[in-house]
Amino acid sequence: MIRAALFIPLFALAAAASLSLDSQWESFKVSDSYSCFFVLQTKYGKSYESNVEETYRRSVFAQKMELIKAHNERANNGEFTYRKGINKFSDLTTEEFKAKYLGFKATARRIAPFIYKVNKTVKAPTLVDWRTKGIVSEVKEQQECGACWAFSAIAAIEAANAQKTGKLVVLSEQNVLDCSWKYGDQGCGGGYMDDAFLYVKDNNGVDTEKSYPYISGDGQDYHTCRYNESNKGASIASFVDIPEGDEEALLSAVSEHVVAVAIDVGPLHDYEAGILNTNECSSDPKDLSHAVAVVGYGSENGIPFWIVRNSWGQDFGESGYFRLYRGSNMCGIANLASYPIV
Ligand SMILES: *[C@@H]1O[C@H](CO)[C@@H](O)[C@H](O)[C@H]1NC(C)=O
Ligand SMILES: *[C@@H]1O[C@H](CO)[C@@H](O)[C@H](O)[C@H]1NC(C)=O
Repeated sequence: MIRAALFIPLFALAAAASLSLDSQWESFKVSDSYSCFFVLQTKYGKSYESNVEETYRRSVFAQKMELIKAHNERANNGEFTYRKGINKFSDLTTEEFKAKYLGFKATARRIAPFIYKVNKTVKAPTLVDWRTKGIVSEVKEQQECGACWAFSAIAAIEAANAQKTGKLVVLSEQNVLDCSWKYGDQGCGGGYMDDAFLYVKDNNGVDTEKSYPYISGDGQDYHTCRYNESNKGASIASFVDIPEGDEEALLSAVSEHVVAVAIDVGPLHDYEAGILNTNECSSDPKDLSHAVAVVGYGSENGIPFWIVRNSWGQDFGESGYFRLYRGSNMCGIANLASYPIV
């Protein structure tokens, strides 16, 4: 899937500085906008409450363009392994982006029935990409709802189910969002992948996406569970936690499974392409703020990376994915990793 055409010209224009900020701002405002945990703008085009608000947003956008330009000049000089770009989040400061999160309750993590153990007699391959094995569905869009945890968990269940049955069934995040409140998840207000797994396990199933489509993208929470057993797409037997912070164990697990992980979102909202290696995010377990799914790993010019599936649409980053530096628990990627057993 190609990037939305709007975003590339915007950066090209910014670099050339040949068009006024006004016209770039006008183009920006008609782009889509949504993120993990908060509501700010409408899906189809930016709507600001007042002229004062718009003036402020425009100044944030102008600053963001300068920062992106400066970052990418340094990336061109080899100082960074990734590029930043204008996207749907470019009228928010990093502080705003983070402050509006209703994030994880990182102190209350559920402990899975099993803890992952590396089998030392098995040597993990140097490259793994589950997208090429037919077990990873198209990248989805959570829109204006803090449902990253449900998208992360469902991606892992879809993959585990496809590995077991040989058939990729696209599953329902909405089912998990509506029905896992009693496990501590809070719908669009945030949740945990392990809580989602426990719900699906106890419920003995999760419905298909087709039968139970996603509707929370407007920021509304729906508390009515509409699970219907006749539309069950998969079920899970249990789930497994990767030992906290253990990137070696994560590597071994990802060589066998798609793994649901949490990260500190850091500068991800400015990401365009490349291997995200930054000191702008934390690897402290208490700073986890976003959930994604690791679908593989590899290395490029000697730089190791994780391949990570996001839920911000196919126009985000590298066709909906991003690559994250591997080897320093970047953004805490190994801090809250788990996968289901079908
Ligand atoms: C480790 O992997 C080897 C080779 O695949 C297998 O024979 C053995 O049973 C595994 N050990 C455990 C504890 O799973
Ligand atoms: C459950 O799904 C089946 C098949 O789609 C349908 O016939 C049935 O009416 C549904 N039950 C409820 C309670 O919605």
